Amino acid sequence: VTAGPTREAIDPVRFLSNRSSGRMGVALATALSHAGAQVTLVHGPMEVPPPPCSTNIAVESAAAMAEAVLSRADSFDIFVLCAAVADFTVQPASQKLKKDRFNGILQLEPTTDILASLGARRQPRQLLVGFAAESEAALENARSKLVRKGADLLFVNQVGGPDCPFSAENSHLTCLDACGSSRDLGRAAKMQHAQTIATLLHQRRSGTT
Ligand code: CTP
Repeated sequence: VTAGPTREAIDPVRFLSNRSSGRMGVALATALSHAGAQVTLVHGPMEVPPPPCSTNIAVESAAAMAEAVLSRADSFDIFVLCAAVADFTVQPASQKLKKDRFNGILQLEPTTDILASLGARRQPRQLLVGFAAESEAALENARSKLVRKGADLLFVNQVGGPDCPFSAENSHLTCLDACGSSRDLGRAAKMQHAQTIATLLHQRRSGTT
């Protein structure tokens, strides 16, 4: 399981990040552990503590998260990538940028897409689950994301407006699967969604769905 935001250092003081709290990933690590899985949680700087039931690996940047996941990828059967990984990073300045000498331009470079990398090198036994945060045309965007990244399942969060899931205890999720079906899981507490997802993954593993 990956969880939380990543931080891309700009200089020794500042960073680029996002609003992810890590709550959904922690709920997933907890629910999957309770369902009997041995869980490794690779997490960025979260608003909530990692659970005691998983092996927890704290990282900061998107590159560190990619390294932590991809270097261990062969040892896992199920990946649930819930982290809000930065899509762009920046070469950090070694000293604090001074405003009277800064030209206002940050040169952004793309990061490694962990889900897509796993999709490209997956083994047949591995199950790949992603999340998507979408603010418009949620289901269409998420469907093309699922296909592009080679995931088996993708859980879509609507962001923006009244449905902002960040830091919230509740979220509205829709489950898309690679066969083309979708299922509205409704609005629920993240822990409840996590238990639903754990059951769903267990059924997939045992071939009952
Ligand atoms: N993801 C990832 N590595 C990245 C970016 C995203 O593994 N560098 C994963 C997320 O953990 C999530 C899925 O890809 O499971 C979709 O993330 P999302 O932020 O919704 O999509 P992006 O690929 O970042 O596309 P965009 O920001 O353009 O919507």
